[in-house]
Amino acid sequence: MKGVILAGGLGSRLHPLTKATNKHLLPVGSEPMLYHPIRQMVSSNIEDILVVTSTQHMGDVVRCLGSGEEFGCRLSYKVQEQAGGIAHALSLAEDFANGNKICVILGDNIFEYSIKPYTDAFRGQDKGAHVLIKEVGDPERYGVAALDEHQVIEIEEKPSNPKSSFAVIGLYYFDNQVFDIIRTIKISGRGELEITSVNNIYIDLQQLHYSICEGRWTDAGTFESLFEANQIMMENNNKIISHE
Ligand code: DAU
Repeated sequence: MKGVILAGGLGSRLHPLTKATNKHLLPVGSEPMLYHPIRQMVSSNIEDILVVTSTQHMGDVVRCLGSGEEFGCRLSYKVQEQAGGIAHALSLAEDFANGNKICVILGDNIFEYSIKPYTDAFRGQDKGAHVLIKEVGDPERYGVAALDEHQVIEIEEKPSNPKSSFAVIGLYYFDNQVFDIIRTIKISGRGELEITSVNNIYIDLQQLHYSICEGRWTDAGTFESLFEANQIMMENNNKIISHE
């Protein structure tokens, strides 16, 4: 399995912190935010990782992360010229994936526990996608899963009347169909190719599985959530907690 970290976008909700730098280079605990998804992937034996970021900040991102040697992985880079959405950023990884399954992490998501159990579960899944859900107090900020007893039946992006309090968070596992699926989706009302549209197609195909995320999780895209991400990482010395 290969890894894809999405670190494009504008970071506009964190202005003026993001006036001169990329959101994903801001500190979380004692390290730049992007160290976290790299360490998460390496800890689940994913060693070939693509980082997608904007033209504006590619230089700083490469300066910060280098070849990957420091983390025990190989890093490749790809420019997303316009913030066309998460699924657009992911579409740029097609050649890199080269037919392999992929693990995708949104570069502003922080997970207290290792993602290894979910990665291992997807290694054993013969096809389709696997998403993570987490109960949150403010579901309207996220993609929200409507669930029946066994499965996710629909995901709505930032609904004003959420059907549950389970957010679909920024760790996704996909088989190679994902790139064909992205080619079929339409630009959303907010002008983006949405990862939620991709996941809803996997639901239609009856190929979307899920796990409930253990431990604390947050994105770091707002001042409040960036503060929470810092709290989690400071308390844990930037170490990822292993389930074993
Ligand atoms: O954090 C989980 C949530 O992330 C999910 O519940 C939502 O379904 C998903 O749409 C996303 O929502 P956000 O509104 O928080 O997404 P945001 O625009 O902040 O983008 C999240 C990350 O994705 C960001 O850190 C960088 C990457 N990204 C985003 C865009 C729009 C890109 O690489 N390129 C892009 O064009």
